[in-house]
Amino acid sequence: MKKYYIKDIQGFKKESKPFATITAYDYTSSSICSSLGFPLILVGDSASMVVFGYENTTPITMDEMMFVLRAVVRGNSCSLIVADMPFLSYQPSKRDAIKNAGRFIKAGANAVKLEGGKEVLNKINALVDSGIPVVGHIGLQPQSINTMSGYKIQGKTKKSAQKLINEAIEIENAGAFSLVLEGIPSNLAKIISKKIKIPTIGIGSGPDCDGQIQVFHDVLGLFDNLSPKHAKKFLDGNKHLAKGLKKYKKSVEKKLFPSSKNYINLTSKILEDISENI
Ligand code: KIV
Repeated sequence: MKKYYIKDIQGFKKESKPFATITAYDYTSSSICSSLGFPLILVGDSASMVVFGYENTTPITMDEMMFVLRAVVRGNSCSLIVADMPFLSYQPSKRDAIKNAGRFIKAGANAVKLEGGKEVLNKINALVDSGIPVVGHIGLQPQSINTMSGYKIQGKTKKSAQKLINEAIEIENAGAFSLVLEGIPSNLAKIISKKIKIPTIGIGSGPDCDGQIQVFHDVLGLFDNLSPKHAKKFLDGNKHLAKGLKKYKKSVEKKLFPSSKNYINLTSKILEDISENI
């Protein structure tokens, strides 16, 4: 299978080919997504919620992200792996940003993603100067849930829309090779995608971004009661999984599993010899 590099992700934009990207958090999800030819897999800090069960993305640590990233790298065959920098792993200083992003790259990530506009330009610059490719992330920034007072669509006013356009340009100029646009109006995402040369990857920002990203669990409907507006369940995974698990449980309870296909027996000779010694 073809291995994807940054130039391939950028090539999609040049050729006006929409591309789908996805998050993954373990060996199994990574090998499935990679073997299906997803060009980019994000080891998202959404792992905080969907893997570790925290309430939002702020608690996840570098060590927890490293644990998840290593498994994804082991499952990957061809995708470009982008690791999400967790809350406070890059905000304090350029030094922190390089040290922590460096841990990801040494563990097998091809690039890192970080949230923020103006305030992170110096970090993007420093990372790129250190040879670490960066994906930016503006609009709704889940790590800012506390300062933004919840998850809210961004860029709805003239001033905030203009701010996002400017930040997108600055992030491109700082050296990012791609930009996630989360939770912004579709027509604003279209303007930004036209304005900058690097590919935009949208989530909840309409169809005119160059690519799209979705959370693995949302696409497969793994949570019964959680379906964000920006997501679509392409499978009723929760119901399918529950059906399979119930079947397994019942089969054991009714002594239908394991069946003779699932185990072996000692030969009667060995059985006899053993029985004599008991
Ligand atoms: O962590 C995450 O899942 C993200 C999104 C862009 C999907 O940052």
